[in-house]
Amino acid sequence: MKTVLTTSPDVAAGFIRSGGIAAFPTETVYGLGANVFDEAAIAMIFEAKMRPADNPLIAHISDLGELNQLASEVPEVATKLIAAFFPGPLTIVLERSPRVPSIATAGLETIGIRMPGNELAKQFLTACGTPVVAPSANLSGRPSPTTWQAVQEDLDERIDCILQGDPTQLGLESTVVDCTSFPPTVLRSGAITISQLRSICPETEIYDLAGGEAPRSPGMKHRHYSPNAKVVLVEPGFAADVTEPSARIGLTSEPTGFEYSITCASVEEYARLVFEFFRACDRRGIRTIFCDAVPDEGIGAALMDRLRRAAAG
Ligand code: TXA
Ligand code: MG
Repeated sequence: MKTVLTTSPDVAAGFIRSGGIAAFPTETVYGLGANVFDEAAIAMIFEAKMRPADNPLIAHISDLGELNQLASEVPEVATKLIAAFFPGPLTIVLERSPRVPSIATAGLETIGIRMPGNELAKQFLTACGTPVVAPSANLSGRPSPTTWQAVQEDLDERIDCILQGDPTQLGLESTVVDCTSFPPTVLRSGAITISQLRSICPETEIYDLAGGEAPRSPGMKHRHYSPNAKVVLVEPGFAADVTEPSARIGLTSEPTGFEYSITCASVEEYARLVFEFFRACDRRGIRTIFCDAVPDEGIGAALMDRLRRAAAG
């Protein structure tokens, strides 16, 4: 299929309304959307991304009134988190309404819901007139796309439309919090930090993937965020003995000897640029990417989570 490029949220929403799939920008990463009630369109998302069928999708809303189409119950703690952080980079997992087709949630009885904060996403979702399920708009396993060009690189001719917006402001996917039991549990770290969540609900826990039980967020067990190049996490200032085309990204002043290197002014900038840096390294045929570790706090916790996963992949 030909993939239509457009800067018009109404044109992109037209594809969703007529049963197609369209990529759109959010403040975190670009998503690949379908009408949450359209099973055939949702099946097209899994096919286009080559996404494992056991990995559930997040539903995106533009209006809190859409919550009751998606969730059968909204506990008090979820209401508080929604009041504090919607719209924004937070996904809340709730009990699913029977109206939601099970393909959207990969058979789970729960559903992740979020309300993006950026203007173009709001306009697009409003024009869709329905909640929109959207995973990140990359081929499964690849780094999430932070530019429309990255979406095109992975999904050209596999999807109906790309809504062309600016590069995303945050660069890492949303924080996912399970609110189906108390205390709420962070399943994926993101731009909304654990201390922000605890300022609303002090009991909030962080899910320990190392615990050995079946992952509560099925996506966390899949290979993730990986460029073709090998990713190595290093302490800042580490001097690599580089023998093959190598790159580095970090916060410290630039070491020499790398074919490609960027130095970020802040942890926020590092988070915003890292996925696009991985893609740029692949385009250049880089074999090894050295990534400086950052302190495991604030957005740094989410960045370190993604870097560890990329290094493990
Ligand atoms: O920032 C984001 O969240 C982006 C933008 C497009 O909104 N979306 C995104 O979607 O990152 P995706 O599909 O790439 O990642 C969704 C994550 C996966 O790890 C998935 O397993 C988890 O959220 N998830 C979704 N629904 C869930 C549920 N009902 N229970 C537990 N985990 C869920
Ligand atoms: Mg993803």
